Amino acid sequence: MAATPAPGYLLLAAAGGSSLLFRQLFDAPTGTFTYLLADGHTGKGLIIDTVFDQHGRDLALIDELGIDLVASLDTHAHADHVTGSWLMHAATGCTIGLAAAARAENVTLPLSHGDRVVFGGRSLEVRATPGHTDGCISFVLDDQSMVFSGDALLVRGCGRCDFQQGNAHTLWNSITGQIWTLPDSCLIFPGHDYTGRNVTSVAEEKAFNARLGGNATERDFVGYMDNMKLPHPHRIAEALPANLRSGKPRNPETPPAWAPIRHSYAGLPELRPTWLVAHQGDVTLLDVRSTEEFGGPDGHVRGSLLIPLPELEARLGEIPTGRPVVVLCHSGSRSALATQQLIKAGLRQVANLHGGLRAWTAEGLPVERFSSAGG
Ligand SMILES: [Fe+2]
Repeated sequence: MAATPAPGYLLLAAAGGSSLLFRQLFDAPTGTFTYLLADGHTGKGLIIDTVFDQHGRDLALIDELGIDLVASLDTHAHADHVTGSWLMHAATGCTIGLAAAARAENVTLPLSHGDRVVFGGRSLEVRATPGHTDGCISFVLDDQSMVFSGDALLVRGCGRCDFQQGNAHTLWNSITGQIWTLPDSCLIFPGHDYTGRNVTSVAEEKAFNARLGGNATERDFVGYMDNMKLPHPHRIAEALPANLRSGKPRNPETPPAWAPIRHSYAGLPELRPTWLVAHQGDVTLLDVRSTEEFGGPDGHVRGSLLIPLPELEARLGEIPTGRPVVVLCHSGSRSALATQQLIKAGLRQVANLHGGLRAWTAEGLPVERFSSAGG
């Protein structure tokens, strides 16, 4: 995707000075963790277990950071949420990776034990860790400092084994044979947590995992897992069939939006000056700078309506109804707040002009100077 690089922004700096950019994201309704990794030198990246309902958020982050997404990977066919992999593929052209054993449609990168998924100068090793489902895989970072264990191993717990071909003996073998054999210092990033625990380590889980840590034997573990008597996941009827299509909606046609809105990672609907200049006659362009700025040397866009931000709430009635509103200011920050205020006031078709008047003039688009404010 074409990301607009912000002035002075560097992916390596965003990565915290390391060559690996790493972000852990969370979907609160399903307790799902999503992981974004990128090689800070090349910008090539991967996303693991992206959630359908969080697609806009995840894509905005990928765009803003300037990551060239190579693949969207899933640790397994989830029963509790729909994957965002197909949406990510549609938006970025990335491949869709899932265990070949899951036999899902639209998978372009079928994965098996021992495969490597390369992103720039970094890679993940695929380890088969079945037991929660037949097709569960874990992803181990090239230097074995991190493992993404999906639902095979959770913080002080593990995935259930009572549906979707689950088998506690198999899960025992997967964890002890594939996770416990990683260095003790390897950090474990799970697929879920429901109580805010976001990371653990091989050393910790070997010692303290409530089901298979400490002195627990396979018999202890299986005895535990076979007696959990958990309720059926309530979204399984919707989630599983969708995940066996890699999250491709049954009817991907969505009604055309009024504009090619992009949501920023901050959650704001945004438009670019190049769209606005071609559609200026179809929208109300609302300038929320001060009267002095509007009439000053920076000028203003012809035909825009001036309502300074401090007066916006009291003057909402002056905004014409029945047409979309695009808000602008000098840089796009005050107009961001104004956009939020308008959304809160009930406006549905409203967007912020990304970069404000500065971005508009940087594109060489015309401004009017020294004319009277308002109108
Ligand atoms: Fe699962």
